[in-house]
Amino acid sequence: MTNIYLIGFMGAGKSTVAKELASKTGARRIEMDQMIVEQQGMAISEIFEKYGEEHFRELETELLRSFLKEENLVVSCGGGSVLRDENARLMKESGRIVLLTAAPETIYERVRHSTERPILNGNMNVAFIRELMEKRRERYETVADQTIATDGKTAAEICREILM
Ligand code: S3P
Repeated sequence: MTNIYLIGFMGAGKSTVAKELASKTGARRIEMDQMIVEQQGMAISEIFEKYGEEHFRELETELLRSFLKEENLVVSCGGGSVLRDENARLMKESGRIVLLTAAPETIYERVRHSTERPILNGNMNVAFIRELMEKRRERYETVADQTIATDGKTAAEICREILM
C-alpha cells in the first residue's frame, strides 16, 4: 500500500483514524508529533518555546524526508506540517494525502483540555480556532487528494471512506 498522510487541523481526528486504519490494513502507524518528541527528548511546547516554530517546522520536514523510500505507512501529520510547500511535496511524492475536517465547535471540544498545543495556548476558544482554520482552509484543500468531514462519523466509517 502507498503511504497515507492524514492531514487537517488539530483535533480533526488524525490520530484516532490513523490507529483504526493501521489496525485494519496492517500498515505501520506514525505519529509525527510523538516521533519528534521522542527524537528531541522534549515536549512540543518546549521545542516551540526554546527554538521557535520555524525550527519545529524544519524537524517536520526532516522527518517527512525520511519516509520518502517507505511504503505501507499511515502517518498522522502535525496540523501545520502541510503549510510548507516542501512538506506537501514530500507527502505527494510518497503517498496519498487525506484531509480530515471538523466544525470549529467539534475541534474545540476535542482539544480544550490540551496543554500540548502551543499554537492554541492562550487562544483556547472557538473564535480563534475558527479564524485559524479559515486561514489554513484553502491550503489544506489544495494539497489534499481526498477530503472527509468527520463530524458525527465513527473512526470505522471514516476508514471505510479512505479505503473505498
Ligand atoms: C500544530 C499542530 C500540532 C503540533 C503542533 C503545531 C499546528 O499537531 O504539530 O502543536 O500548527 O497545527 P496536531 O495536529 O497533531 O495537534
